[in-house]
Amino acid sequence: MFNKICVMGLGYIGLPTSSLFATNGIKVIGVDINKHVVDTINSGDIHIEEPGLKTLVSAAVKSGNLVASLEPQEADAFIIAVPTPFKHSDNVIKEADMSYVELAMKMILPYLKKGNLVILESTSPIGTCEKLLKPIIESANFSVGEDIYLAHCPERVLPGKILKEAISNARIIGGINEKSSKLAEKLYRTFVEGEIYLTNATTAEMCKLMENTYRDVNIALANELANICSKIGINAWEVIEYANKHPRVNIHSPGPGVGGHCISVDPWFIIEKFPNEANIIKLCRITNDNQPKNVVNFIKKIDQEIEIKKITIMGITYKGNVDDTRESPAIEVINLLKENFDNISISIYDPHVKDKKFEISNLEDAFKNSDLALLLTNHNDFKYLSPDEIGKIMNKKIIYDTRNCLDLSKWEKAEFRTYLLGRD
Ligand SMILES: NC(=O)c1ccc[n+]([C@@H]2O[C@H](COP(=O)([O-])OP(=O)(O)OC[C@H]3O[C@@H](n4cnc5c(N)ncnc54)[C@H](O)[C@@H]3O)[C@@H](O)[C@H]2O)c1
Repeated sequence: MFNKICVMGLGYIGLPTSSLFATNGIKVIGVDINKHVVDTINSGDIHIEEPGLKTLVSAAVKSGNLVASLEPQEADAFIIAVPTPFKHSDNVIKEADMSYVELAMKMILPYLKKGNLVILESTSPIGTCEKLLKPIIESANFSVGEDIYLAHCPERVLPGKILKEAISNARIIGGINEKSSKLAEKLYRTFVEGEIYLTNATTAEMCKLMENTYRDVNIALANELANICSKIGINAWEVIEYANKHPRVNIHSPGPGVGGHCISVDPWFIIEKFPNEANIIKLCRITNDNQPKNVVNFIKKIDQEIEIKKITIMGITYKGNVDDTRESPAIEVINLLKENFDNISISIYDPHVKDKKFEISNLEDAFKNSDLALLLTNHNDFKYLSPDEIGKIMNKKIIYDTRNCLDLSKWEKAEFRTYLLGRD
């Protein structure tokens, strides 16, 4: 039934998905509008960092089952896995940017034929299947649910473990009708071993938004409690660890803010549509977005005591052990530091980031003559740094850990003055 599929978007979601289908015997045309992405994949290489992905893509391309292209082709099913960011603006409430999804659907349209299945994997605002995709398909005189089947199948994979989780996670599939859900289930069963739950499209859309909103709200609570603990003079990380020993408590980790393309974005899709009802959700978004400012205010306090002229940023990705900088709070911290300090010198050390738009220094240059090491991302690499060696090249030995990543007692032994978010 599904011999050939077309996947729109070959990023963190579309590329692993394409490769998993291809290595399970399905012919995949992977489409991306970025020529560099298409050329890299066709050469058997990858343009993003994800454990195991290079080997899988290389095998998929070698088998002849995965071909990347700038244009779609006729296929049995089409999967849309393009970005759904928010529009950057000064508005308090952010709006979803659905232009990528709309374009991807319009690109597919000339290749659609009766009996095809269209799946939206991109995280999308409520009503996207019914109100955005369905009318586009109908504009080509197809009846959705009869001629063309349509379903939303949101992704829940964890970057760093995408390949494992794509196979083992439970999935929610929401069809525009029952037949659409069942067809999508059949397709995903090619490689998905986790439970598959069938529902309608709107429920699946809301389910994905609810999951990430829960996490954003939980992190906002952790941030608020951490800020209170530091006022009291106790260690929030220790309190959270003990609180989570309660069998029904799971408080997330505080930090310098929330980033990434999911948790910091998806709650806005609910707020935008329900600004009068989504009060807690909005407050939590604002709470988390305020964290970079709190970090910079804390550095200003340190600066009143000890003059800071050079800061070394440790990590600019939105979370540890990935190369993804989208919506990273570290970038906001850097911008705020530049705004708040005259003539400050900032160097960045991030062993995961290859993106040329950031000036990433090597270890030596990053820490040389620095007055403050500011850890914003919990990369494992940082745990293996030698405080003695770093101390030798820094100008002043001060470290501020906003992620509880380091064993600060080791840095104190090397005569560092240490600060921890949620404690100091
Ligand atoms: N990355 C994750 O961990 C994750 C997890 C769950 C859900 N999601 C959701 O999955 C979707 C995709 O995210 P991602 O992280 O893979 O994004 P990404 O930016 O890594 O990849 C998207 C790719 O789509 C391409 N693209 C844009 N418009 C296109 C078009 N019209 N046709 C073909 N290609 C096009 C881009 O060039 C890019 O390579 C988003 O909605 C995101 O919220 C991502």
